[in-house]
Amino acid sequence: MHAAVCHSHGPPEVVKVEDLPSPELSAGQVRVRVAAAAVNFPDVLIVANEYQIKIPTPFVPGSEYAGVVTEVGEGVGDVAIGDRVFGTGIVGAFAEELVVAAQSLTLIPGGVDERAAAAFGVAHRTAFNVLRSVAALQPGEELVVLGAGGGVGLAAVELGAILGASVTAVASSAEKLEAASSQGATKLIDHRAGDLRQALRETLPDGADVVVDPVGGDLAEPALRALRWGGRFVTVGYASGVIPRIPLNLVLLKGIQIMGFEFGSFGARRPDDVARNENDVMELLAAGRVNPHIGATFPLDDVVAALRYVGDGRAIGKIVLDVAS
Ligand SMILES: NC(=O)c1ccc[n+]([C@@H]2O[C@H](COP(=O)([O-])OP(=O)(O)OC[C@H]3O[C@@H](n4cnc5c(N)ncnc54)[C@H](OP(=O)(O)O)[C@@H]3O)[C@@H](O)[C@H]2O)c1
Repeated sequence: MHAAVCHSHGPPEVVKVEDLPSPELSAGQVRVRVAAAAVNFPDVLIVANEYQIKIPTPFVPGSEYAGVVTEVGEGVGDVAIGDRVFGTGIVGAFAEELVVAAQSLTLIPGGVDERAAAAFGVAHRTAFNVLRSVAALQPGEELVVLGAGGGVGLAAVELGAILGASVTAVASSAEKLEAASSQGATKLIDHRAGDLRQALRETLPDGADVVVDPVGGDLAEPALRALRWGGRFVTVGYASGVIPRIPLNLVLLKGIQIMGFEFGSFGARRPDDVARNENDVMELLAAGRVNPHIGATFPLDDVVAALRYVGDGRAIGKIVLDVAS
C-alpha cells in the first residue's frame, strides 16, 4: 500500500511517500481502506517530535480518517465489511490502509461524504464539548472565538451559532474571516489590522460572555480583558507556540472563570457529558446542519505540502488528504 512514512523526526519535509506491506490484522481489529484523512496541527508536532505524545520512528503519521471497512478480525460484531466509518487515533492515517480497534470507529451517517467525515471528528467534537460542557454557552450570549479560521476555531464558530450565541470571530486574514462569516459569525475582527483589545472594546461595548482560545500567545490577554464581569475563558490549545501568562488581577477584578479543556482527561472524568455531546453533534452532522469547512485538499503524494500548509497556520478550516485518488 501507498503510505506517508516518517523515518526521522523533523520538519514536514522528512516525510516520504513509499510502498509498505499491508498492516496485519488481529482479533478485535478491522481493516479500513482510507478514502480521506484530515491533516491536523498535532500531526505536524508529532512529525517534529514536539507533541506531548512521542512516537518512535519509523511511523506513518495521520490521526483522522474516513473510509470503508474491507476486513474484520475475529470477535468483531458491530462493524461489517462495506461499512463506511471514520475515526481518530494518534498515527497511521496517511496511508491507503489502516488497521484499528473496531470499537474506535464511528459509522458515517448516510449523505455525509468521507472528506466531511474525516474533517469532522477532532475539531467539531472538541468545539462542542468546550462550548456545551465547559463554557456552558447559553442562547443569546456573546461568544468570542480566537483562531476562528482554523479547524477548532471554525467549528466553534459554527456550533456556537447553532447553540444560539452571537459570535465574534477573530482571525488574521480576510479569507479566514470570510469563512467564519459563512459559518455563522456576525462580527469579524482581523487581529493583524490593529490593537485587538481596542477592536474588541468597540465591537462588544458590553463585553463578551465566553472566549474560546485555541491559539494562546499575544491574543489571549486582550481577549480575556474583553470579558464582562463573570465571563468564562476556555483555553483549548496553543497553536501560536506560546503559552500565555495571564495577570491574575484581571481575573479577580471581573470574577472571571478560566477553564481548560483536553479531550483525553475530560473524557475520562466526564464520560456522560462526552456521550451526550457525541450523540447530539452526530445528529447535527447527520441532519446536514453541520458542514465542516474544507479549505484545501491535497493528494496523498503531496502530504509534505499539506503538513507545511497546516504548520504555517495557512489552513482555513480543515485540510484533507484525498487518499482514494
Ligand atoms: N484541547 C484539546 O483537546 C484539543 C483538541 C484539538 C486541537 N487542540 C489544539 O488546538 C490548537 C488549534 O488546533 P486547530 O486544529 O484549530 O489548528 P489550525 O487549524 O492550524 O488553526 C490554528 C490557528 O492558530 C493561529 N495561529 C497563530 N499562530 C500560529 C502559528 N505559529 N502556527 C499555526 N497557527 C497559528 C491561526 O489563526 P490566525 O492566523 O487567524 O491567528 C490558525 O488558524 C492546536 O494547538 C491543537 O493542538 C486541542
